[in-house]
Amino acid sequence: MNKPYVFITRKLPDEAIKPLTTLAEVKMWPYEDVPVTREVLLSEAKKADALFTMLSDRIDREVMEAGESLKVIANLAVGFDNIDVSFATERGIAICNTPDVLTDTTADLTFALLLATARRVVEAAEFVKAGEWKSWSPSLLAGHDVHHKTIGIVGMGKIGQAVAKRATGFEMNILYHNRSRNEEAERKFGATYCTFAELLEKSDFVVCLTPLTNETRWLFNREAFQMMKRSAIFINAARGAVVDEEALYDALINGEIAGAGLDVFEKEPIDRNHPLLALNNVVALPHIGSASVETRVKMMELCCRNIVAVLKGEAPETLVNQQWLEKTRRVL
Ligand code: DGY
Repeated sequence: MNKPYVFITRKLPDEAIKPLTTLAEVKMWPYEDVPVTREVLLSEAKKADALFTMLSDRIDREVMEAGESLKVIANLAVGFDNIDVSFATERGIAICNTPDVLTDTTADLTFALLLATARRVVEAAEFVKAGEWKSWSPSLLAGHDVHHKTIGIVGMGKIGQAVAKRATGFEMNILYHNRSRNEEAERKFGATYCTFAELLEKSDFVVCLTPLTNETRWLFNREAFQMMKRSAIFINAARGAVVDEEALYDALINGEIAGAGLDVFEKEPIDRNHPLLALNNVVALPHIGSASVETRVKMMELCCRNIVAVLKGEAPETLVNQQWLEKTRRVL
């Protein structure tokens, strides 16, 4: 019997994909830092029983229609806005993501970005390396305190909750807004639920951790930035398209808010001439929320386990489209 065929859209360490190679014929796109071309993705999808994809790959109808034998798509991310999940469900394709294993790592990066933006860490480091440090001075690169301030977390999922936990160490007042109340965050970390408007008005740090959906696209628009305090710092570690970047730029330029720490952008990689990158009060990172060596290994292992499970006729560990279970009558 022919082995199932798995296509991986980036070059990954051979060690990390071992669980797949014992079961399937595996082919990888040969580059780590160049995304798979659309043409290759479509032609590989045609042969594939499983795709191991990245958040930078657009997995739409065309890809799934090409993949006549496609049974599972394992995305190396917790977010899956790059995949047309409802079409996958229609086609009986399981969609898997990598929640849990990246929660603390992404929360660490979110808090690091918050601290770096508030205390002007990147600007200060560049200042020293550029030989501009001529003398100590009382207001040299003075930033904003983080401790005892109010943090407003938009999107109180697992990562939001892990950020709240970190905020308690800084004795911050924690507000949150979410589709539904998160009683655990309220009980464990003293977080207070409030409306989106209330959160924007009261927070010193507005932290966006909400998934990108039709409801959250451009949630942070001109009006939202105008509602924030003039001293507020905006942090986005979710998805770029949750923000109207032109409105954010205007808010920063007009002094409507004090700064922004951004790990994600509407178009990634962001163009080096993008106006946001010219601002001193913007800290920009290349979407590295979950990028620790340990966590990336765990994410790869989880993707492999999910693919193996589906190819063996079992249910995967972290399934996005639960209806797939009913459709295929598999049990968790
Ligand atoms: C994800 O996994 O969706 C995050 O964006 C990782 O940084």
